[in-house]
Amino acid sequence: MALWAGRFSKEVDETVNAFNSSIAFDARMYAHDIQGSIAHATMLGDCGVIDKAESETIIKGLKGILADLQSGALEFDPNAEDIHMFVEAELTKRLGSTGKRLHTARSRNDQVALDIRLYLRDEIDEIAQLVHKLCTALCDMAEQHTDTILPGYTHLQRAQPVTFAHHLLAYAQMLRRDLLRLRDAKERMNECPLGCGALAGTTYPIDRWQTAKLLEFDRPVENSLDGVSDRDFCVELCCALSLIMTHLSRFSEEIILWCSWEFKFIELDDAYATGSSIMPQKKNPDVTELIRGKTGRVNGDLMTLLSMLKGLPLAYNKDMQEDKEAIFDAVDNVKLCVKTFIPMLTTMRVRKENMRKAAAKGFINATDCADYLVKKGMPFRDAYKITGTLVAKCIEQELTLETLPLEAYKEMTDLFAEDVYDAISLERCVEGRSSYGGPSPKAVADQLDGIRYELEQLCWWDWPAE
Ligand code: ARG
Repeated sequence: MALWAGRFSKEVDETVNAFNSSIAFDARMYAHDIQGSIAHATMLGDCGVIDKAESETIIKGLKGILADLQSGALEFDPNAEDIHMFVEAELTKRLGSTGKRLHTARSRNDQVALDIRLYLRDEIDEIAQLVHKLCTALCDMAEQHTDTILPGYTHLQRAQPVTFAHHLLAYAQMLRRDLLRLRDAKERMNECPLGCGALAGTTYPIDRWQTAKLLEFDRPVENSLDGVSDRDFCVELCCALSLIMTHLSRFSEEIILWCSWEFKFIELDDAYATGSSIMPQKKNPDVTELIRGKTGRVNGDLMTLLSMLKGLPLAYNKDMQEDKEAIFDAVDNVKLCVKTFIPMLTTMRVRKENMRKAAAKGFINATDCADYLVKKGMPFRDAYKITGTLVAKCIEQELTLETLPLEAYKEMTDLFAEDVYDAISLERCVEGRSSYGGPSPKAVADQLDGIRYELEQLCWWDWPAE
């Protein structure tokens, strides 16, 4: 018999019940649901809305349910409408009419808005710790490769020399911003909707500040309609998750390219690659491809949330039940991807010599050749043009700027001298790019110091509660 049976003369149709039920996917919030109920019952007792002794009985009952669910002694009823109804029905089964007092001055609408926040707050911390770990792994790896020259690309064409460390730290910066986004999302969702009731608050003398404090929120949500209506915090988190995936996906794409025979910049550890069922020579980067693929899925979750919300009048509408599968899917997949990505990255073999070889081809020192002339007084545009002509000459004669004879240089302008070869050596080109944020070993060492310092500040889950 449903809890609302008083108003109805028939049982709900079986198909509708199954259609309506969310317990299959919201059962995972059971601990948070019980945590919220304990805070609510405490406050009801303290404010004299229910008898203090009954409040204590309810709390004990809720703790018993939590323990039994954790031990497996109690199983979820798949026919329950949702986790909230399940816990309440179980409480009433155990306590009789005292259990029926828990839902005083509360609605499932503020209850569910609370549970998702409590649940996601914990998930954010877990995801942030993983992203932090990945970011640290990138820094550690970068430290080993401040001298490893790598061609930098634009349009996937070799462009200018960088170092592997510089490249890795570019991703570390993206992930650092992802951490900031997670922190912001958590901060903004940290308002307590409990006490908003169904939509219009309550006539009981409740203390919303007390429940907010008990549940470690910064404050109660200020407007009761807003508290039960919006899921912007799910959207915001999902945006941050989409960006984490986007960053991982771009990195994955590069790893896929890098381990191809065409690049051979890295080799994946056997434990993080797979073979082919038919081609014996294959070693495939499945992990990175799957991450690239799952990025689309998390983006889809974001669209699900946005589309679900966009036409909803205030306040609660059942459409909002769809928020959970989307945000849970995004959370689960991001955790899975980051967890797998870290060991794959740290175990891969870096083929420095191939990076160096690739850097030696493709005229990535052409800009430096032009800059050489500029330093001798020539306007950049003229220097650019002369260097372009030299590059064309090299291509025609199958030479590089390093192997082109000095006479060929001098034919273009007398400003060229023997020291041009030193100026265009790859090591010199990288070393010279010492502007703030650049790839020179010194500039990269500064970047490493900077990001390590910032990462230290970004472990909010270690901060003691005030
Ligand atoms: N299972 C519902 C959800 O996830 C809980 C809230 C139901 N409230 C209601 N008035 N039907 O949104």
